[in-house]
Amino acid sequence: MAAGQRRPSLLAVVPVPLLLLIVVSFGSQAAAAGGAPVWTTALQQHVAYFDSDNDGIVTYSETEEGLRRIGLGVATATAAAALINGVIGPKTRPDNATTSRMDIYVENIHKGMHGSDTGSYDAQGRFVQAKFDEIFVKYANAKPNALNQTELEEMRHANRGSNDYSGWAASKAEWDMLYSLAKDNDGFLQKDTARAVYNGSLFVTLAKQNGN
Ligand SMILES: *[C@@H]1O[C@H](CO)[C@@H](O)[C@H](O)[C@H]1NC(C)=O
Ligand SMILES: *[C@@H]1O[C@H](CO)[C@@H](O)[C@H](O)[C@H]1NC(C)=O
Ligand SMILES: *[C@@H]1O[C@H](CO)[C@@H](O)[C@H](O)[C@H]1NC(C)=O
Repeated sequence: MAAGQRRPSLLAVVPVPLLLLIVVSFGSQAAAAGGAPVWTTALQQHVAYFDSDNDGIVTYSETEEGLRRIGLGVATATAAAALINGVIGPKTRPDNATTSRMDIYVENIHKGMHGSDTGSYDAQGRFVQAKFDEIFVKYANAKPNALNQTELEEMRHANRGSNDYSGWAASKAEWDMLYSLAKDNDGFLQKDTARAVYNGSLFVTLAKQNGN
């Protein structure tokens, strides 16, 4: 047992405070490697919901399974996952990556952002409270702090960048999906509910509601 023989000699030559430091830093690295990565931006947290094995990469199957957990049917989840990972994956891929081109790298998710959106995420993927509040100030007219389908559509159309067709499509797909999964019984998307999608906490709630 080589390790068993080395340990006493290491103890003999390394001063105790230094040894403690080695033990402490090794311990924290081991914890980081074993536990979930800690993501800093709201957009990273939003996407990390789908990273069920916590390796920092959202594969096509993880997206598909995640969408089914929050209530999408198999056909919709399959099509949406193919589109999401097919479009976003390559944009977030580090140059030296060796895994599937469909993989989404959580660390780089801000590179996968599209135009024609509300600006509630900044370019780095951080949540922008003022932009988010503005949505409801401008468009929540039928009821305070909630949007019906007509108002959601008005909001999306107003945010359209010119000729940004892929941004329009992505924005429509996201808001339609959110609306269909999270509207209340009167057909309104509540501000609190919409807020919780930005850091991914809504996904946890929806999955629980679906018994997952
Ligand atoms: C790619 O490069 C980064 C930064 O240099 C490094 O941390 C990472 O381990 C590399 N990944 C692969 C798959 O080589
Ligand atoms: C939805 O919102 C629009 C615009 O504020 C309003 O005209 C319409 O009556 C609302 N529909 C319902 C069912 O509340
Ligand atoms: C995410 O946002 C919601 C809504 O603002 C908040 O209640 C929740 O505590 C946040 N969760 C995390 C993990 O930051």
